[in-house]
Amino acid sequence: MKKVLLTGGAGFIGSHVADLLLARGCELTVLDNLSFGRREHVPAAARLVELDLADRAGVQACFAAGGFDTVVHLAAIHFIPYCNQHPDLACRTNVEGTQNIFDAAQASGTVARLFTASTAAVYPDCAGPIDEQVARAPMDVYGMTKSANEEQAAILARRSDIRVSVGRFFNAVGGRETNPHLVPDILQRIRAADLIEIGNTSPKRDYIDVRDMATGVLAMLDGNAGPIDTCNIGTGEVYDVVEIAEFISRIHRRRIELRPAERLIRKVERQNLQADSRRLQTRYGWRAQHSIHDSLAYAYDWYTQR
Ligand SMILES: NC(=O)c1ccc[n+]([C@@H]2O[C@H](COP(=O)([O-])OP(=O)(O)OC[C@H]3O[C@@H](n4cnc5c(N)ncnc54)[C@H](O)[C@@H]3O)[C@@H](O)[C@H]2O)c1
Repeated sequence: MKKVLLTGGAGFIGSHVADLLLARGCELTVLDNLSFGRREHVPAAARLVELDLADRAGVQACFAAGGFDTVVHLAAIHFIPYCNQHPDLACRTNVEGTQNIFDAAQASGTVARLFTASTAAVYPDCAGPIDEQVARAPMDVYGMTKSANEEQAAILARRSDIRVSVGRFFNAVGGRETNPHLVPDILQRIRAADLIEIGNTSPKRDYIDVRDMATGVLAMLDGNAGPIDTCNIGTGEVYDVVEIAEFISRIHRRRIELRPAERLIRKVERQNLQADSRRLQTRYGWRAQHSIHDSLAYAYDWYTQR
């Protein structure tokens, strides 16, 4: 890995991956349209190409000029309610935009490795830990676009010499988050009040530190598991909304109270999303280094210092 193109590098997970790539001495180009990401998240040592994934000619020109050997493709429209409200934009960005990246990578003749971000949202609801063998069954527009990305990645691996890694990300937690997911939403709202209106409190999620997510991405890129490999990137531990609020209360040193509000309840919601991460551990030697408390403290410090 020497010359790396990182799409979505101004975003939450991408900016942490950027830190690791630069620490390894890679020459890093970030492609991002700054729609959700922020310029200040892109490390100064990286080159920022401000470009929309949907601009096929622009993407091709970026690859032609770059001579990249590795691509980390994270740019996407990611917030589930936003994707449901804007299905056309979600498809254009996540499906068409991804095809533009894959086609340009293949046409370049220089790219040997490519990582692409999928999601736990491709899975059906499942009571216990879920492994990669379970058939995909997305329940929303976002999951559908990511499931399509997995098909696109399989075709790329079949039709080119590029070695492809697909990471199914569970719920990242930490500083620099750009979308109003549960943790940033709570951290934002406790600035004003200790009582928070909330939707459904029972769904359990597998929260993974964003820094561990980033090491998972690199572990897959470093590995050697055939023309295409797909792994869950999660911890295997799940917490519901009440537990997360309790953990944050401890860090905040004030009791956060949750008040369920009917209007905030999502119509379609999985009750449990829990990674079986044994494949990532055994094939790539990856281990999570941060506890849920570390991750929430990192998120808390980042939000309170802004
Ligand atoms: N955060 C999570 O918990 C999580 C979970 C599952 C999967 N993922 C996936 O991981 C990847 C990164 O997620 P994130 O949480 O860092 O999200 P993010 O929104 O912080 O980052 C996505 C980046 O993509 C950029 N982008 C969006 N549309 C673009 C376009 N048309 N052209 C160019 N750039 C564009 C945004 O500006 C942003 O910087 C995404 O593919 C997401 O679907 C994230």
